[in-house]
Amino acid sequence: MARSYLLLASLISVACAIPNVERDTFVHVRRDSAPAGFVHVGAAPDSQVLTLRVGVAQSNTAGLIDALYSVSTPGSDQYGQHLSKEDVEALTAPTEATTASVQAWLSSHNVTFARATPAGDWLKLSVTVAQANRLLNTNFATFKNQATGKQTVRTLSYSLPTSLEGKITFVHPTTVFPIQPFGGKNLVFKPNSASKRAPDAAPQSCATEFTPTCLQELYGIPTTSTGQTSNVIAVSGFIDEFANQADLAAFLARFRTDIPSTTTFTTQLIDGGTNPQTRSEAGIEANLDTQYAIGVAGTVPVQFISVGPDNNDDIAGFLDILEFLSGESPVPTVLSTSYSFDEDELPFDLANSVCNAYAALGAQGTSIFFSSGDGGVSGGQSQSCTTFIPTFPSTCPFVTSVGATSGLNPEVAASFSSGGFSNLFPIPDYQASDVSAFLAGLGSTYAGLFNSSGRAFPDISAAGVDVEISWDTEFGTVDGTSCSTPILAGLFGLLNDELISVGKSPLGFLNPFLYANQDIFTDITSGTNPGCGTQGFSTEVGWDPVTGVGSPVYASLRTAAGLT
Ligand SMILES: *[C@@H]1O[C@H](CO)[C@@H](O)[C@H](O)[C@H]1NC(C)=O
Ligand SMILES: *[C@@H]1O[C@H](CO)[C@@H](O)[C@H](O)[C@H]1NC(C)=O
Repeated sequence: MARSYLLLASLISVACAIPNVERDTFVHVRRDSAPAGFVHVGAAPDSQVLTLRVGVAQSNTAGLIDALYSVSTPGSDQYGQHLSKEDVEALTAPTEATTASVQAWLSSHNVTFARATPAGDWLKLSVTVAQANRLLNTNFATFKNQATGKQTVRTLSYSLPTSLEGKITFVHPTTVFPIQPFGGKNLVFKPNSASKRAPDAAPQSCATEFTPTCLQELYGIPTTSTGQTSNVIAVSGFIDEFANQADLAAFLARFRTDIPSTTTFTTQLIDGGTNPQTRSEAGIEANLDTQYAIGVAGTVPVQFISVGPDNNDDIAGFLDILEFLSGESPVPTVLSTSYSFDEDELPFDLANSVCNAYAALGAQGTSIFFSSGDGGVSGGQSQSCTTFIPTFPSTCPFVTSVGATSGLNPEVAASFSSGGFSNLFPIPDYQASDVSAFLAGLGSTYAGLFNSSGRAFPDISAAGVDVEISWDTEFGTVDGTSCSTPILAGLFGLLNDELISVGKSPLGFLNPFLYANQDIFTDITSGTNPGCGTQGFSTEVGWDPVTGVGSPVYASLRTAAGLT
């Protein structure tokens, strides 16, 4: 894998080896080579315009993270007292001095810029290649994707003035080549067939497929909500995945006859996104995500955020959706995203800024769910590998990573359920003792294949095999952590509805609560997540990197959340 990134702030000798680098600059990020599949075509045309995002160091990221844990850790004095947008911006805004030096640098190059986030910790600039080359002491080049023929302008390394060391967190897109997340187009729809589970299944509603009714019985999920309007479940949609209202109506007419089949989602379009309603254009992922958020949460408001093709980040719009949410007040109480990247696709500087943006949402009271991925220990999807591949954003300590289970009585781990350990983010306190217990049991097995000091995932799991959806006028099933994620988003959306209805705060960032209450989950103790030519990790009693703390039991979660 030629995707290693190095932060070379201190390796002056390397900087000196690169021609035309001014004395007072340092290499901020470099990569060894373009990713497999991209060929160098030539120098990028001087006049071509690039839209760059620049991250500016926040004044108090440590304070943001402290505040996130204070409001999210049961037993803390501040538990549940989520921050306002203004409180968060006071921590995420750069200092005046930092802003001034970044502005002076850009102005000295005649570069104009705009704030990408209200706090000004992300800026957006339009520059020509010639300007960008001078600004970043680099030589942007044109690369061609051999598979698609699509050309893209990138560089393998760039430098910043030493006076800005510690003041710029990332410049994007520079060294990150266009990547598509897993999820979406990877899902397979299996039209209903006769070969299903034993008819003596319990609950009986789960005899053939997983449906909202089956999940209600299996996890004890209530069928009614109080309809709190401040409680919104946001569902992300990327890469031309359209959510179809008619398919949803057919789904509800069959599986939620107790709520109006006109129950639907609102749509928020960004980056030129559209949500055409021709049934043949419906996305399997978008239908699955909206049908299970609504199928489980009933009349809790659901907002589908569709990111269109005009995203300026070339990572499917992951930065753009965060910019959109940074301007929202109040924020959604739940954010469900069934898309993921292999962690080694992103350099630390960018992944860390994205992760801190999730912390900012969590501090305001959003529970953020990401699917862990469908490739077992080999990452977002099954692929050849020599070391285990963790997935991002699951490795960000400030999101809740969702794995998948299969079957009933007992639920076992789905073999595709991704899980493992980050190479970028260290282990957070909330899971440290559970993870060390797992590692003690593992001993030296797989030593060298994963980073035992990294943030471990997933955190929790739910059904993800034989999940029934309506798609393009048909009914059929899909498998994946993409199923488990909206199911849990719906379940926690209902819990938030109950909490808000009695004047309590929504749960917000969940992980400290989940690990503190891990006895209340159904522990999954059978199954492994194979990949990279190994059997993968094994489920164990307690937390494990296949199914996390286990699957939910609604009644116990209610009690743990302080409902009587
Ligand atoms: C910026 O613009 C001024 C005025 O047009 C010009 O004199 C100067 O050379 C420009 N500087 C750069 C770095 O392009
Ligand atoms: C392992 O994880 C730790 C903690 O995040 C990190 O500091 C270290 O660089 C990682 N090691 C490798 C080889 O990725």
